[in-house]
Amino acid sequence: MAENTLTIRDNRTGKEVEFPIQSGTEGPPVVDIEKFYKEFGLFTLDPGFRSTASCKSRITFIDGEAGVLLYRGYPIEQLAEFSHFPEVCYLLLNGELPNEEQYTRFVNTVTNHTMLHEQILNFYKGYRRDAHPMAIMVGVVGALSAFYHDSLDVHDLRHREVSAFRLISKIPTIAAASYKYSIGQPFIYPDNERSYVENFLYMLFSVPSAKFKMSPVLVRAMEQILILHADHEQNASTSTVRLAGSSQANPFAAASAGIGALWGPAHGGANEAVLDMLAEIRSVDRVPEYIMRAKNPQDPFRLMGFGHRVYKNYDPRARILKKAAHEVLAELGRGNDPIFKLALELEKIAQEDDYFVKRKLYPNVDFYSGIIQSAIGIPNNMFTVIFAVARMVGWVSQWKEMIEAGEGIGRPRQLYVGAPSREYLFMSERK
Ligand code: SDX
Repeated sequence: MAENTLTIRDNRTGKEVEFPIQSGTEGPPVVDIEKFYKEFGLFTLDPGFRSTASCKSRITFIDGEAGVLLYRGYPIEQLAEFSHFPEVCYLLLNGELPNEEQYTRFVNTVTNHTMLHEQILNFYKGYRRDAHPMAIMVGVVGALSAFYHDSLDVHDLRHREVSAFRLISKIPTIAAASYKYSIGQPFIYPDNERSYVENFLYMLFSVPSAKFKMSPVLVRAMEQILILHADHEQNASTSTVRLAGSSQANPFAAASAGIGALWGPAHGGANEAVLDMLAEIRSVDRVPEYIMRAKNPQDPFRLMGFGHRVYKNYDPRARILKKAAHEVLAELGRGNDPIFKLALELEKIAQEDDYFVKRKLYPNVDFYSGIIQSAIGIPNNMFTVIFAVARMVGWVSQWKEMIEAGEGIGRPRQLYVGAPSREYLFMSERK
């Protein structure tokens, strides 16, 4: 038996095959089963991918048991405290923190691509005013490929770089425009004198008739929200972007697919669902009733913002956002905000309840992010849009890594449990 291998035996035939075990820098090793079907004529079945690594990656590491999150090796706590979102974008895209000259060049390039082609703004007028902003984002981001024909060749490094800049630079402008459209206010063009995050808030909240001002505490809270949501290993939307991009679809189409996947309440849509849930619970004395409902397998109600496929410990991002929520509410003189108090009480009760403790269900990134965004003045239906603005750099970084790995189209197989082969029935023969 060779070292660092896994021997698998098919007891039906007695055939034994050794499969190589590969270790990474951190985290569980993997067994490489690429030749599994060839050797045994069997597929492996893992519907939720609970035991499946889909790729090798250098970008983000998560230790779910320990509640650790690293971007290119740097702890999320340090990036959230000391870094800025454009610097995190550079780090995720390039693998290292930029020096002064690299950072200045990167920020200038991102800043000078924030405007949209004027025709793109016409897309918005085709939507109803009450369209969910995520529906607009899916459409407009996918349509970018109709405007930028000069950066669609996924095999051309320069095209990949230009598309990456366009997506990262323009996603705040697209997101802000979807909000302005939904409230009947005029679009606000980007102001390149402002930082990435301040510019985003400016495009969201300024109006032509008044000067824009926002407390630096709120700007910093939004910056932390973007940093904390920027990437997260092979989550559902990132895996969607990788799979869509593996067909050599252009990066705008792949990003649009990611936005669609993120929208779901089990994923990025959870932050909006948390605020809806807190509004429904309304008061602390109703918390026990909802905890009971969350524990009842017959009741579809789930404690939104709780639990995670990977984190079986407190989501490190939730810890940072909980602190930021305190700071934002204090800055706004709303230290006793009833919704925040309700969230704190809900977390406390759940953390003492055996059902949640046994299942290692802790608050995740979505539990507090909506409270902060709501306090800043962002409506619930924009929370997942903000998540998409942040995650765009993660999607683009993972998409680039997938293309450069050159492993071809992703094409899983299945266990077929449908009807066996049978003859066509003419209408007269059918029951
Ligand atoms: C994000 O993947 C990522 O990295 C995602 C993300 C990212 O940055 O990209 O981190 C962002 O999507 C965070 C997750 C946001 N979603 C929610 O907050 C929705 C509520 N959470 C659940 O839907 C659930 O916890 C999931 C979807 C997040 C994870 O589900 P899993 O891993 O499939 O867990 P599971 O359903 O197998 O749960 C195990 C048990 C089950 O009970 P039993 O069958 O063992 O009795 O825990 C229960 C579940 O019923 N459970 C919950 C619960 N989450 C799991 N019970 C009540 N409330 C919950 N929230």
